[in-house]
Amino acid sequence: MKGVVFTEFLELVETKFGIQMVDDIIKSSNLESGGAYTAVGTYKFGEMVSLLSELSKRTQLSIDDLLYVYAQHFFTVIQVSYPGFLKTFSDPIEMLSSIEDHIHVEVLKIYPDAQLPTFKTLEKTENTLTLDYMSSRAMYSFGLGLMHETFNFFKIDCTIRLEKIKDDGTHVRFFIKVKNGNTRP
Ligand code: HEM
Repeated sequence: MKGVVFTEFLELVETKFGIQMVDDIIKSSNLESGGAYTAVGTYKFGEMVSLLSELSKRTQLSIDDLLYVYAQHFFTVIQVSYPGFLKTFSDPIEMLSSIEDHIHVEVLKIYPDAQLPTFKTLEKTENTLTLDYMSSRAMYSFGLGLMHETFNFFKIDCTIRLEKIKDDGTHVRFFIKVKNGNTRP
């Protein structure tokens, strides 16, 4: 997993829970990296799992809820760091159906060792999208947060329902729908 995912995560933990919490979860996670991350480095995904579980224990928030909130923060990072990516799209359904063949392809050019999920479009209409998420990392709540933020970015209301195809969350189906009379000022 890329260092930027760790540095931004710890940044958010510091903002929401304070520097002491950052120190605590790093100390109790027994990290191979020692918790010193650089944005361009690559680290074991297991380190993120440890940090998330330690934070979950201390905040009583589920790992899914933490990943969802983290995605909201990560979307602002994407907006600031890669504004060009978002400008290529004029609507959220188009954007979300392009992650696999467009967005994450660009990500791989920047970070050739990035570990990315697989998305597969099952059905797409002007106002609906059925998308399958597959990843050994089971970060579907992170995906859900990014999807909601994508709709917020385009100021369009949506409903997103998910169904776990595999219980462990490594294969999840998203049913995405634009709400009627959706455009916001
Ligand atoms: C992971 C970039 C959009 C879903 C990642 C990672 C990066 C990235 C850098 C981490 C890879 C690693 O740690 O090795 C971007 C950029 C986007 C974008 C620049 C620009 C718009 C999206 C969107 C979704 C998405 C719209 C919506 C579902 C995910 C998920 C992961 C991920 C779920 C976690 C890895 C996994 O589940 O296996 N992305 N992403 N990304 N991205 Fe994207």
